[in-house]
Amino acid sequence: MKDQVLDIEEKALRDLGEVKDLPGLEIFRVSYLGKKGLLTSLMKRLGELSPAERPEAGQMLNRLKSDLTKRFDEARERILSRKEEGADLLDVTLPGREPFRGHLHPITQVALEIYNIFRRMGFKVVEGPEVELDYYNFEALNIPADHPARDMQDTFYVSDKVLLRTHTSPMEIRVMETQSPPVRIISPGKVYRRDSDVTHTPMFHQVEGLLVDKGVTFGDLKGTLTSFVHQMFGRETALRFRPSFFPFTEPSAEVDIQCVICRGKGCRTCKNTGWIEILGSGMNDPAIYAFVGYDPEVYSGFAFGMGIERVAMLKYGIDDIQLFYRNDMRFLRQF
Ligand code: DAH
Repeated sequence: MKDQVLDIEEKALRDLGEVKDLPGLEIFRVSYLGKKGLLTSLMKRLGELSPAERPEAGQMLNRLKSDLTKRFDEARERILSRKEEGADLLDVTLPGREPFRGHLHPITQVALEIYNIFRRMGFKVVEGPEVELDYYNFEALNIPADHPARDMQDTFYVSDKVLLRTHTSPMEIRVMETQSPPVRIISPGKVYRRDSDVTHTPMFHQVEGLLVDKGVTFGDLKGTLTSFVHQMFGRETALRFRPSFFPFTEPSAEVDIQCVICRGKGCRTCKNTGWIEILGSGMNDPAIYAFVGYDPEVYSGFAFGMGIERVAMLKYGIDDIQLFYRNDMRFLRQF
């Protein structure tokens, strides 16, 4: 027992010498003087000693306890007074620490850039529901229940007639339903499809565009989209209109831009064609005017839809769409 007391005394003095602050001091108190501390547990074991040994060991322990308690109080005083003096150690002339500053997500940045380009051309931004009726997502866009075009947009259904919109095109119908021409809107937002690989995520963003007025021609569509591509990707970027099919436009065209990675020479990204598709477009099919009560003999218009992630990937040369949604700061900080 005597040796143990001496051991504890030596260790305790060493530990106390290393204590620098109040939390450290509290750890010291708990490990030696606390209810479960070393000193307390030795005291509890006094009873195990023979009556002859007990008085001396008891005295030693009591002395150690009052000694450590006194030193503990002194250390506490020391730390507290040092804290008060600490005010003098504050150097108010040091430069401040700059707080961490965040910024908009790259998808938001590109979306804003797209809005600004179209806003300058007189388009108004409108938003619509992500949980959509089958009627707006398909039916009124001239895609009836058995139409093969539905297969291209693998859909999340909420119920028979309710779904997560697969594109922003339903906003064309919603806008035309509530206003008569002239119409000049873009409609951005999230869309959903059952799809997932390096160029597809189940949720992604699109921007829809719609313009309806008297005497609108395919030339207006070409001019508008050419101006958009030049502002977004630079004047030197070549583009082409490639005939295509969408049930709600006639004629329809997809717009390709010269591959931004190889500048048209042919590479993996453009599958050696030198071109990359960036959007779908076309002249409004008179069939959709029938759903909203517009007279196709009086009005004509065009529409387009593009994926924001795709535009961002091409603008910044990113080859994996999932990077946008992994929340990896090493990636996000670059924008
Ligand atoms: N909604 C089509 C899609 O997601 C894209 C599209 C094509 C939109 C032609 C349009 C359009 O407005 O005219 O595949």
